[in-house]
Amino acid sequence: CQASAKPQSNHKQGCNFGIAFDIDGVILRGRVPIGGSPQALRRLYGDSGELSVPYLFLTNGGGVPETKRAKELSELLEVNIMASQVVQGHSPFRNLLKKFENELIIATGKGDPALVMSEYGFKKVLSLEEFASYFENIDPVSQYKKWTSMPLSNKKAPSVPIYDVSSERVMAAFVVSDPVDWGRDIQVLCDVLRSGGLLGDANNYQPPLYFAADDLEYQAAFPYKRLGMGAFRIALESVFNRTSAKSLEYVTYGKPNPFVFKNAEIILSQLRSSSCQNPYENNGVLGSQPFKTLYMIGDNPSVDVKGAQQAGHPWFSILTRTGVFRGKDNHTEFPADLVVDSVEEAVDYILKREC
Ligand code: G3P
Ligand code: MG
Repeated sequence: CQASAKPQSNHKQGCNFGIAFDIDGVILRGRVPIGGSPQALRRLYGDSGELSVPYLFLTNGGGVPETKRAKELSELLEVNIMASQVVQGHSPFRNLLKKFENELIIATGKGDPALVMSEYGFKKVLSLEEFASYFENIDPVSQYKKWTSMPLSNKKAPSVPIYDVSSERVMAAFVVSDPVDWGRDIQVLCDVLRSGGLLGDANNYQPPLYFAADDLEYQAAFPYKRLGMGAFRIALESVFNRTSAKSLEYVTYGKPNPFVFKNAEIILSQLRSSSCQNPYENNGVLGSQPFKTLYMIGDNPSVDVKGAQQAGHPWFSILTRTGVFRGKDNHTEFPADLVVDSVEEAVDYILKREC
Protein backbone atom coordinates (compact mmCIF):
# COMPACT_ATOMS: atom_id res chain seq x y z
CA CYS A 1 0.00 0.00 0.00
CA GLN A 2 1.25 3.46 -0.83
CA ALA A 3 0.37 5.02 2.52
CA SER A 4 2.84 7.52 3.84
CA ALA A 5 4.49 4.74 5.84
CA LYS A 6 7.07 2.73 3.87
CA PRO A 7 5.32 0.27 1.54
CA GLN A 8 5.82 -3.31 2.46
CA SER A 9 8.92 -4.93 0.93
CA ASN A 10 6.87 -7.92 -0.11
CA HIS A 11 4.54 -6.43 -2.73
CA LYS A 12 2.50 -9.59 -2.75
CA GLN A 13 0.77 -8.21 0.35
CA GLY A 14 -0.84 -5.31 -1.51
CA CYS A 15 -3.62 -3.77 0.61
CA ASN A 16 -4.79 -6.77 2.52
CA PHE A 17 -6.07 -4.54 5.30
CA GLY A 18 -8.82 -1.97 5.60
CA ILE A 19 -10.09 0.49 8.21
CA ALA A 20 -13.57 1.35 9.51
CA PHE A 21 -13.71 4.63 11.45
CA ASP A 22 -16.50 5.42 13.86
CA ILE A 23 -17.29 9.16 13.70
CA ASP A 24 -18.77 10.54 16.94
CA GLY A 25 -16.13 10.43 19.66
CA VAL A 26 -13.34 9.27 17.33
CA ILE A 27 -13.18 11.61 14.34
CA LEU A 28 -15.47 14.42 15.52
CA ARG A 29 -17.05 15.82 18.65
CA GLY A 30 -20.11 17.52 17.21
CA ARG A 31 -18.55 19.25 14.17
CA VAL A 32 -15.06 19.62 15.61
CA PRO A 33 -12.31 17.24 14.42
CA ILE A 34 -10.60 15.49 17.38
CA GLY A 35 -7.65 13.19 18.03
CA GLY A 36 -5.66 14.50 15.09
CA SER A 37 -8.25 13.03 12.71
CA PRO A 38 -7.47 15.24 9.66
CA GLN A 39 -3.75 14.40 9.66
CA ALA A 40 -4.47 10.75 10.48
CA LEU A 41 -6.78 10.44 7.46
CA ARG A 42 -4.35 12.27 5.19
CA ARG A 43 -1.85 9.43 5.76
CA LEU A 44 -4.23 7.06 3.96
CA TYR A 45 -3.77 8.89 0.66
CA GLY A 46 -0.91 8.70 -1.80
CA ASP A 47 1.25 11.63 -2.90
CA SER A 48 -1.15 12.61 -5.68
CA GLY A 49 -4.10 12.55 -3.27
CA GLU A 50 -5.46 9.18 -4.39
CA LEU A 51 -6.84 6.83 -1.77
CA SER A 52 -4.14 4.27 -1.05
CA VAL A 53 -5.63 2.46 1.97
CA PRO A 54 -9.26 1.33 1.76
CA TYR A 55 -11.19 2.97 4.58
CA LEU A 56 -14.74 4.01 5.34
CA PHE A 57 -16.78 5.68 8.07
CA LEU A 58 -19.05 3.27 9.96
CA THR A 59 -21.31 5.44 12.07
CA ASN A 60 -24.61 4.90 13.88
CA GLY A 61 -25.31 8.56 13.23
CA GLY A 62 -27.21 9.93 10.27
CA GLY A 63 -30.08 12.18 9.25
CA VAL A 64 -28.79 13.37 5.89
CA PRO A 65 -28.11 11.50 2.61
CA GLU A 66 -24.67 9.86 2.41
CA THR A 67 -23.74 12.24 -0.42
CA LYS A 68 -24.36 15.25 1.83
CA ARG A 69 -22.55 13.68 4.80
CA ALA A 70 -19.55 12.89 2.61
CA LYS A 71 -19.38 16.52 1.48
CA GLU A 72 -19.64 17.75 5.09
CA LEU A 73 -16.92 15.37 6.25
CA SER A 74 -14.64 16.33 3.33
CA GLU A 75 -14.92 19.98 4.33
CA LEU A 76 -14.43 19.36 8.07
CA LEU A 77 -11.52 16.92 7.64
CA GLU A 78 -9.96 18.43 4.51
CA VAL A 79 -9.67 15.15 2.63
CA ASN A 80 -11.73 13.95 -0.31
CA ILE A 81 -14.37 11.55 0.98
CA MET A 82 -16.71 9.70 -1.40
CA ALA A 83 -20.33 8.92 -0.55
CA SER A 84 -19.47 5.23 -0.89
CA GLN A 85 -17.14 5.65 2.08
CA VAL A 86 -19.94 6.82 4.37
CA VAL A 87 -22.03 4.07 5.99
CA GLN A 88 -24.63 5.48 8.36
CA GLY A 89 -27.02 3.76 10.73
CA HIS A 90 -29.85 4.05 8.20
CA SER A 91 -27.81 3.11 5.11
CA PRO A 92 -29.17 -0.49 5.11
CA PHE A 93 -32.76 0.85 5.04
CA ARG A 94 -32.35 0.89 1.25
CA ASN A 95 -32.62 -2.94 1.43
CA LEU A 96 -36.27 -2.52 2.52
CA LEU A 97 -37.18 -0.73 -0.68
CA LYS A 98 -38.74 -3.83 -2.27
CA LYS A 99 -41.13 -4.10 0.65
CA PHE A 100 -42.21 -0.47 1.00
CA GLU A 101 -41.25 1.31 -2.23
CA ASN A 102 -44.81 2.37 -3.06
CA GLU A 103 -46.26 2.28 0.45
CA LEU A 104 -46.89 5.30 2.66
CA ILE A 105 -44.14 5.41 5.32
CA ILE A 106 -43.17 7.95 7.99
CA ALA A 107 -39.62 8.85 8.99
CA THR A 108 -38.32 10.82 11.96
CA GLY A 109 -35.07 12.13 13.42
CA LYS A 110 -32.75 15.12 13.20
CA GLY A 111 -31.78 16.43 9.78
CA ASP A 112 -34.03 15.53 6.85
CA PRO A 113 -35.28 11.97 7.42
CA ALA A 114 -37.85 12.13 4.60
CA LEU A 115 -35.14 13.15 2.10
CA VAL A 116 -32.89 10.31 3.30
CA MET A 117 -35.63 7.77 2.59
CA SER A 118 -36.74 9.34 -0.71
CA GLU A 119 -33.13 9.27 -1.95
CA TYR A 120 -33.11 5.52 -1.30
CA GLY A 121 -36.05 5.30 -3.68
CA PHE A 122 -39.06 5.16 -1.33
CA LYS A 123 -41.86 6.87 -3.23
CA LYS A 124 -44.35 7.91 -0.53
CA VAL A 125 -42.47 9.29 2.47
CA LEU A 126 -43.73 11.72 5.07
CA SER A 127 -41.61 13.09 7.88
CA LEU A 128 -43.35 12.40 11.19
CA GLU A 129 -43.45 16.18 11.67
CA GLU A 130 -45.36 16.65 8.41
CA PHE A 131 -47.65 13.69 9.15
CA ALA A 132 -48.48 15.18 12.58
CA SER A 133 -49.23 18.58 11.03
CA TYR A 134 -52.24 17.01 9.27
CA PHE A 135 -53.91 16.31 12.62
CA GLU A 136 -54.76 19.43 14.59
CA ASN A 137 -53.94 19.13 18.32
CA ILE A 138 -52.35 15.71 17.92
CA ASP A 139 -49.58 17.14 20.09
CA PRO A 140 -51.39 18.90 22.96
CA VAL A 141 -48.34 20.93 23.94
CA SER A 142 -47.09 21.97 20.50
CA GLN A 143 -48.27 25.53 21.07
CA TYR A 144 -45.74 25.87 23.89
CA LYS A 145 -42.79 24.73 21.77
CA LYS A 146 -40.70 27.74 20.89
CA TRP A 147 -39.50 26.06 17.71
CA THR A 148 -42.98 25.48 16.23
CA SER A 149 -43.21 27.36 12.97
CA MET A 150 -46.24 29.52 13.75
CA PRO A 151 -47.06 31.48 16.96
CA LEU A 152 -50.36 30.49 18.66
CA SER A 153 -52.22 33.60 17.51
CA ASN A 154 -52.07 33.03 13.80
CA LYS A 155 -51.49 29.28 13.82
CA LYS A 156 -52.28 28.15 10.33
CA ALA A 157 -54.63 25.27 9.71
CA PRO A 158 -52.79 21.92 9.28
CA SER A 159 -50.89 21.94 6.01
CA VAL A 160 -52.68 20.49 3.02
CA PRO A 161 -51.96 16.73 3.10
CA ILE A 162 -49.93 15.40 0.19
CA TYR A 163 -51.47 12.02 1.01
CA ASP A 164 -54.94 11.41 2.41
CA VAL A 165 -53.80 10.19 5.83
CA SER A 166 -57.44 9.76 6.87
CA SER A 167 -57.76 6.88 4.44
CA GLU A 168 -54.20 5.89 3.45
CA ARG A 169 -52.54 3.55 5.96
CA VAL A 170 -49.00 4.18 7.18
CA MET A 171 -47.32 0.87 6.41
CA ALA A 172 -44.03 1.36 8.31
CA ALA A 173 -42.22 3.83 10.57
CA PHE A 174 -38.49 4.59 10.45
CA VAL A 175 -36.42 6.28 13.17
CA VAL A 176 -33.67 7.47 10.85
CA SER A 177 -31.61 9.56 13.29
CA ASP A 178 -31.75 10.94 16.83
CA PRO A 179 -35.30 12.27 17.40
CA VAL A 180 -35.56 16.01 18.05
CA ASP A 181 -38.95 16.10 19.81
CA TRP A 182 -39.24 12.97 21.92
CA GLY A 183 -42.67 13.89 23.33
CA ARG A 184 -44.26 14.45 19.93
CA ASP A 185 -42.57 11.40 18.38
CA ILE A 186 -43.57 9.06 21.22
CA GLN A 187 -47.15 10.31 21.03
CA VAL A 188 -47.46 10.05 17.24
CA LEU A 189 -45.64 6.72 16.97
CA CYS A 190 -47.96 5.30 19.65
CA ASP A 191 -50.96 6.62 17.68
CA VAL A 192 -49.73 5.09 14.42
CA LEU A 193 -48.64 1.74 15.89
CA ARG A 194 -51.76 1.24 17.98
CA SER A 195 -54.14 2.06 15.13
CA GLY A 196 -52.55 -0.19 12.50
CA GLY A 197 -51.27 2.84 10.64
CA LEU A 198 -54.61 4.62 10.30
CA LEU A 199 -55.51 6.87 13.23
CA GLY A 200 -58.91 5.98 14.69
CA ASP A 201 -58.94 2.64 12.95
CA ALA A 202 -58.99 -0.60 14.90
CA ASN A 203 -57.13 -2.64 12.33
CA ASN A 204 -54.79 -5.36 13.52
CA TYR A 205 -52.12 -4.53 10.93
CA GLN A 206 -48.89 -3.92 12.83
CA PRO A 207 -46.76 -1.36 10.97
CA PRO A 208 -43.11 -2.46 11.35
CA LEU A 209 -40.92 -0.03 13.30
CA TYR A 210 -37.26 0.31 12.31
CA PHE A 211 -34.49 2.05 14.24
CA ALA A 212 -31.26 3.06 12.50
CA ALA A 213 -29.33 2.30 15.70
CA ASP A 214 -29.79 1.56 19.38
CA ASP A 215 -27.03 3.55 21.09
CA LEU A 216 -27.98 4.23 24.70
CA GLU A 217 -25.38 7.03 24.86
CA TYR A 218 -22.88 8.63 22.51
CA GLN A 219 -20.23 11.33 22.41
CA ALA A 220 -21.48 14.63 20.99
CA ALA A 221 -20.08 18.16 21.36
CA PHE A 222 -20.82 18.29 25.12
CA PRO A 223 -17.87 17.02 27.20
CA TYR A 224 -19.89 14.11 28.63
CA LYS A 225 -21.80 11.41 26.72
CA ARG A 226 -25.37 12.17 25.61
CA LEU A 227 -28.52 10.06 25.37
CA GLY A 228 -28.78 8.40 21.96
CA MET A 229 -31.44 6.69 19.87
CA GLY A 230 -31.41 3.66 22.18
CA ALA A 231 -32.56 5.88 25.05
CA PHE A 232 -35.42 7.15 22.88
CA ARG A 233 -36.34 3.55 22.03
CA ILE A 234 -36.47 2.66 25.75
CA ALA A 235 -38.72 5.67 26.44
CA LEU A 236 -41.06 4.82 23.54
CA GLU A 237 -41.13 1.13 24.47
CA SER A 238 -42.01 1.79 28.11
CA VAL A 239 -44.82 4.24 27.22
CA PHE A 240 -46.16 2.00 24.43
CA ASN A 241 -46.16 -1.12 26.62
CA ARG A 242 -48.06 0.74 29.36
CA THR A 243 -50.67 2.21 27.04
CA SER A 244 -51.50 -0.64 24.72
CA ALA A 245 -52.50 -4.25 24.99
CA LYS A 246 -49.41 -5.51 23.14
CA SER A 247 -45.68 -5.01 23.51
CA LEU A 248 -43.71 -2.79 21.17
CA GLU A 249 -42.18 -4.73 18.25
CA TYR A 250 -39.22 -3.19 16.45
CA VAL A 251 -36.01 -3.93 14.54
CA THR A 252 -32.76 -2.14 15.32
CA TYR A 253 -30.04 -1.63 12.70
CA GLY A 254 -26.55 -0.19 13.12
CA LYS A 255 -23.52 -1.40 15.06
CA PRO A 256 -23.03 -3.84 16.84
CA ASN A 257 -25.16 -5.92 14.40
CA PRO A 258 -22.84 -8.42 12.62
CA PHE A 259 -24.51 -7.76 9.24
CA VAL A 260 -23.31 -4.14 9.49
CA PHE A 261 -19.70 -5.35 9.69
CA LYS A 262 -20.23 -7.89 6.89
CA ASN A 263 -21.57 -5.09 4.71
CA ALA A 264 -18.61 -2.88 5.64
CA GLU A 265 -16.23 -5.66 4.55
CA ILE A 266 -17.91 -5.80 1.14
CA ILE A 267 -17.67 -2.03 0.69
CA LEU A 268 -13.99 -2.03 1.77
CA SER A 269 -13.30 -4.73 -0.76
CA GLN A 270 -14.87 -2.59 -3.48
CA LEU A 271 -12.83 0.41 -2.32
CA ARG A 272 -9.67 -1.70 -2.37
CA SER A 273 -10.24 -2.65 -5.99
CA SER A 274 -10.05 1.01 -6.93
CA SER A 275 -7.43 2.18 -4.45
CA CYS A 276 -4.58 -0.25 -4.08
CA GLN A 277 -1.23 0.17 -5.76
CA ASN A 278 -1.18 -3.41 -6.96
CA PRO A 279 -4.84 -4.40 -6.89
CA TYR A 280 -4.13 -7.61 -8.78
CA GLU A 281 -4.03 -10.51 -6.40
CA ASN A 282 -4.84 -14.17 -6.78
CA ASN A 283 -3.26 -14.41 -10.25
CA GLY A 284 -4.79 -11.22 -11.57
CA VAL A 285 -8.30 -11.57 -10.20
CA LEU A 286 -8.99 -8.01 -9.10
CA GLY A 287 -9.38 -7.50 -5.37
CA SER A 288 -10.71 -10.99 -4.66
CA GLN A 289 -8.18 -11.82 -1.94
CA PRO A 290 -9.87 -11.80 1.47
CA PHE A 291 -8.63 -9.15 3.88
CA LYS A 292 -6.02 -10.25 6.39
CA THR A 293 -7.16 -7.60 8.89
CA LEU A 294 -10.01 -5.09 9.12
CA TYR A 295 -9.58 -2.46 11.81
CA MET A 296 -12.62 -1.02 13.62
CA ILE A 297 -11.59 2.21 15.38
CA GLY A 298 -14.33 3.24 17.83
CA ASP A 299 -15.04 4.97 21.13
CA ASN A 300 -17.99 2.97 22.41
CA PRO A 301 -17.11 -0.49 23.79
CA SER A 302 -20.70 -1.83 23.76
CA VAL A 303 -21.17 -0.76 20.13
CA ASP A 304 -17.86 -0.59 18.27
CA VAL A 305 -15.76 -3.17 20.15
CA LYS A 306 -18.66 -5.55 20.75
CA GLY A 307 -19.58 -5.34 17.05
CA ALA A 308 -16.06 -6.12 15.87
CA GLN A 309 -15.82 -9.00 18.33
CA GLN A 310 -19.18 -10.44 17.22
CA ALA A 311 -18.14 -10.09 13.57
CA GLY A 312 -15.02 -12.14 14.30
CA HIS A 313 -12.09 -12.63 11.86
CA PRO A 314 -10.69 -10.53 10.22
CA TRP A 315 -11.91 -7.72 12.50
CA PHE A 316 -9.47 -6.14 14.98
CA SER A 317 -10.92 -3.59 17.44
CA ILE A 318 -9.12 -0.40 18.47
CA LEU A 319 -10.72 1.65 21.25
CA THR A 320 -9.94 5.36 21.59
CA ARG A 321 -10.15 7.39 24.81
CA THR A 322 -11.72 10.43 23.08
CA GLY A 323 -15.41 9.56 23.34
CA VAL A 324 -17.70 7.39 25.41
CA PHE A 325 -14.76 5.36 26.81
CA ARG A 326 -12.30 7.30 28.91
CA GLY A 327 -10.71 4.55 31.02
CA LYS A 328 -7.01 4.15 31.70
CA ASP A 329 -6.82 0.48 30.86
CA ASN A 330 -9.24 -1.56 28.74
CA HIS A 331 -12.98 -1.97 28.98
CA THR A 332 -13.86 -4.87 31.25
CA GLU A 333 -16.99 -6.24 29.49
CA PHE A 334 -15.83 -5.57 25.91
CA PRO A 335 -12.01 -5.47 25.98
CA ALA A 336 -10.60 -4.10 22.69
CA ASP A 337 -7.64 -5.65 20.90
CA LEU A 338 -5.85 -2.32 21.41
CA VAL A 339 -6.62 0.84 23.42
CA VAL A 340 -5.15 4.18 22.27
CA ASP A 341 -5.44 7.85 23.22
CA SER A 342 -6.49 9.06 19.78
CA VAL A 343 -7.39 8.09 16.23
CA GLU A 344 -4.01 9.44 15.12
CA GLU A 345 -2.29 6.94 17.39
CA ALA A 346 -4.53 4.20 15.99
CA VAL A 347 -3.61 4.98 12.36
CA ASP A 348 0.06 5.21 13.32
CA TYR A 349 -0.13 1.73 14.86
CA ILE A 350 -1.90 0.30 11.82
CA LEU A 351 0.51 1.74 9.25
CA LYS A 352 3.52 0.60 11.26
CA ARG A 353 2.01 -2.87 11.55
CA GLU A 354 0.89 -3.19 7.92
CA CYS A 355 3.24 -1.17 5.74
O1 G3P B 1 -26.19 9.69 16.79
C1 G3P B 1 -24.91 9.19 16.61
C2 G3P B 1 -24.56 8.24 17.70
O2 G3P B 1 -25.58 7.36 17.95
C3 G3P B 1 -23.27 7.47 17.51
O3 G3P B 1 -22.57 7.81 16.37
O4 G3P B 1 -20.51 7.81 14.96
O5 G3P B 1 -20.35 7.13 17.38
O6 G3P B 1 -21.50 5.62 15.73
P1 G3P B 1 -21.15 7.04 16.08
MG1 MG C 1 -18.78 6.84 18.50
